[in-house]
Amino acid sequence: MARITASVYTSHVPAIGAALDLGKTHEPYWQPLFQGYEYSKQWMKDNKPDVIFLVFNDHATAFSLDMIPTFAIGTADSYMPADEGWGPRPVPRVIGHADLASHIAQSVIQDDFDLTIVNKMDVDHGLTVPLSLMCGQPQEWPCPVIPFAVNVVQYPVPSGKRCLNLGKAIRKAIESYDQDLNVQIWGTGGMSHQLQGPRAGLINKEFDNAFLDRMIADPEGQAAVPHIDYVREAGSEGIELVMWLIARGAMADLNGGAKPTLKHRFYHVPASNTAVGHAILENN
Ligand code: DHB
Ligand code: FE
Repeated sequence: MARITASVYTSHVPAIGAALDLGKTHEPYWQPLFQGYEYSKQWMKDNKPDVIFLVFNDHATAFSLDMIPTFAIGTADSYMPADEGWGPRPVPRVIGHADLASHIAQSVIQDDFDLTIVNKMDVDHGLTVPLSLMCGQPQEWPCPVIPFAVNVVQYPVPSGKRCLNLGKAIRKAIESYDQDLNVQIWGTGGMSHQLQGPRAGLINKEFDNAFLDRMIADPEGQAAVPHIDYVREAGSEGIELVMWLIARGAMADLNGGAKPTLKHRFYHVPASNTAVGHAILENN
């Protein structure tokens, strides 16, 4: 059977992708940020998954405001890096896992979560920057990736509670797949940031660190926090953090099993307009 071995949480700031692609990682501004991912890149090599289930948000790149799925699962064989206005990032094509993705869609939809099936999609910084942070700059990504897009751009967006419960359904789906696969689930986006309006540039270190504490130790409690608290405290784009609860909901302790081990935790400000948060939890 397939099993979820670990969950990874990380911000997805586009300027991080640009810093990597343009060879700026050792500049004084960026060095402390990339330092925080050195452990993670080694951990990825030591704990290479067979598949990554990557929860992210599209930023009106693949889905325009013409059509906005709340939850969309990628069932394609591959996905190209998107052109977000300055050409696609020079990173490898993302290889999918159509068979596992289709199995997850079947199981999760039968569990009453209405997923949109996506057979063609370019993937923006929301997906490629987390891969770069965790895997560096390889010729190929280390394993197939199932992209799972969540609408956190256009209201109404899904609640924390729904995201946590969806994670539980995704776990059930993965654990009922009849091949021995080690699957990691990643929750991406956040942390506090606001990109527009009078509060542009907002960062809230206290909120971010409290979110990290609670996401790890009391995810059910964190899932009860309403959107308005994220928006007020963490800025309009801080709502991206609800996606982390999907990955957290898929961990063993929320499904009758043991508490996970915290392997790594990192927080850094600034990266562009954004606070960067990162954690790795391993199932025991
Ligand atoms: C920035 C952060 C984001 O999450 C994003 O999607 C776009 C830009 C930023 O900090 O610049
Ligand atoms: Fe974003």
